Amino acid sequence: MAERRGAPALPGLDSQTYARAHLAFESRSDQRRLIAEHLAGRLAARAGQSISVLSVGCGDGTLDVPLIQGLLGADGARSVRYVGVDPYETATTELARAMGALDDPALQVETHSTTWESAPVSGTFDVITFVHSMYYVPDVAAAVAKACSLLRPGGELVVLSGPRGAMNTLVDICAPPIDGHPQWFSDDVAAGIAEAAAPAHLEVAPVERLEALLALEPVTHDVLDFVVQARLTPEARELVLACLRSAAVPDPASGRFEVPHPVDVHRVVRLP
Ligand SMILES: C[S@@+](CC[C@H](N)C(=O)[O-])C[C@H]1O[C@@H](n2cnc3c(N)ncnc32)[C@H](O)[C@@H]1O
Repeated sequence: MAERRGAPALPGLDSQTYARAHLAFESRSDQRRLIAEHLAGRLAARAGQSISVLSVGCGDGTLDVPLIQGLLGADGARSVRYVGVDPYETATTELARAMGALDDPALQVETHSTTWESAPVSGTFDVITFVHSMYYVPDVAAAVAKACSLLRPGGELVVLSGPRGAMNTLVDICAPPIDGHPQWFSDDVAAGIAEAAAPAHLEVAPVERLEALLALEPVTHDVLDFVVQARLTPEARELVLACLRSAAVPDPASGRFEVPHPVDVHRVVRLP
């Protein structure tokens, strides 16, 4: 904090660097697998002949395409409506291509290459997800309220966001503000949900935590830049690495150091 105080903001990650650094980061972490398993379980628990899913900040479909494929099943008994929203057009184009490659007439796909704030989404949904995307919206309560207005009776909003903690505190210190606001973490999501989900037909479920770990070594610039959501200078990189090493714990099997980076699952259910 002392190193950054009064210093000019570090540059953020442009969309291409972000995608590359994101890939490098995910390859070191078991968080994506934990998230995929959690969401697959949640979606599978919903019986019925048809299901509609809205994914906000859907990215390129790395997470969503296998989830939707799992929903379609082999017997073709289920129809699925999937809507993906993401301002990064390269990602939504890739997602649409990958969904198209599933080549299933029971799947209807729609993508919007724009922010959630301006996405013209119509219809109602059984499940609405924000997986690691609530950090970036200008106003969490407004984003939650818009999502809740699109839930079917019995439908649920599922928001996955990391808590502050060893890793995300570094984002608070290093990352440039996004459109004038900081990144919103799990506590901010809880506050936004409490503000937006007050109506009697909405129920806020207890928060669940998925305990994920990031393998720190071998250290690369992409992984460290993604951890702090900024392009680090060599001096700042050394300090970030020291912080991460101090938070790391040895894996009992391999002895290699891993940094805890849990993710919280927030849910709002629209009562039937
Ligand atoms: C960390 S990625 C997560 C992507 C995907 N959900 C996944 O887990 O693979 C965050 C995504 O949120 C998107 N995003 C940023 N600001 C957004 C906004 N205002 N509305 C919707 N999505 C946004 C980014 O373009 C990015 O693709």
